[in-house]
Amino acid sequence: MGYGYNIKPLLKDFMNIQKAYNEWSLSYDSDENLTRDLDQNVLRQALANLYFTSILEIGCGTGKNTSFLSRIGEHVHALDFSEGMIAKAREKVAAGNVTFSMADLTKKWPCKDADYDLIVCNLVLEHIEDLPFIFSEAFRVLQARGKFLVNELHPFRQYEGKKARFNRDEKVTEIPAFVHHISDFTNAASQHGFTLVKLDERWHAADQNKPPRIVSFLFEK
Ligand SMILES: C[S@@+](CC[C@H](N)C(=O)[O-])C[C@H]1O[C@@H](n2cnc3c(N)ncnc32)[C@H](O)[C@@H]1O
Repeated sequence: MGYGYNIKPLLKDFMNIQKAYNEWSLSYDSDENLTRDLDQNVLRQALANLYFTSILEIGCGTGKNTSFLSRIGEHVHALDFSEGMIAKAREKVAAGNVTFSMADLTKKWPCKDADYDLIVCNLVLEHIEDLPFIFSEAFRVLQARGKFLVNELHPFRQYEGKKARFNRDEKVTEIPAFVHHISDFTNAASQHGFTLVKLDERWHAADQNKPPRIVSFLFEK
């Protein structure tokens, strides 16, 4: 990491991220959000025609992807640290094979070793500075040959100053974010024993002549 993009993590930032998502949970699903919508398609395409025994979703938010995961997995364990976001997900996701847990992903995850054959993480890691910790926990809880799918706002967009944000009562709330370069992801992954299976860059239909909106990595343990 470098080039002065990152700010030092402060307790204040952590509190702000959690608080901001609690507030955003009220309108996250109904706000216009092309990145959210594109991510949903990218995830469905990446996992089409696959089936898993045990899926871990880290940063599930309001459950935008959770119902789909419940259809391609025997069991889904969905984690998030925002009470507001998880409450919406619980309301929305009717599937009986999903368990939700409140958890801070920057601390040891409430998961057993080698328990999952797929982990998915969508639009979360911009809020987490320490990528190596995420990859070490992912490696710990995945079975051998397990997959780790990561979709994030593309760093090219971050270089332009884009980050997760929402409007409420004419006030814009920008959520603290860290810039992660492509090599930050691939280096953290390989240092923790992962192999990169696929790297993809995706645009929304409205993104003509713009940098890619989402970067998608599929890693394997
Ligand atoms: C942009 S939302 C994405 C939600 C969902 N994955 C989706 O694609 O719609 C980011 C989510 O990450 C969660 N999050 C951010 N930092 C986290 C942390 N340290 N621990 C747990 N969840 C976190 C937020 O609460 C929020 O629900």
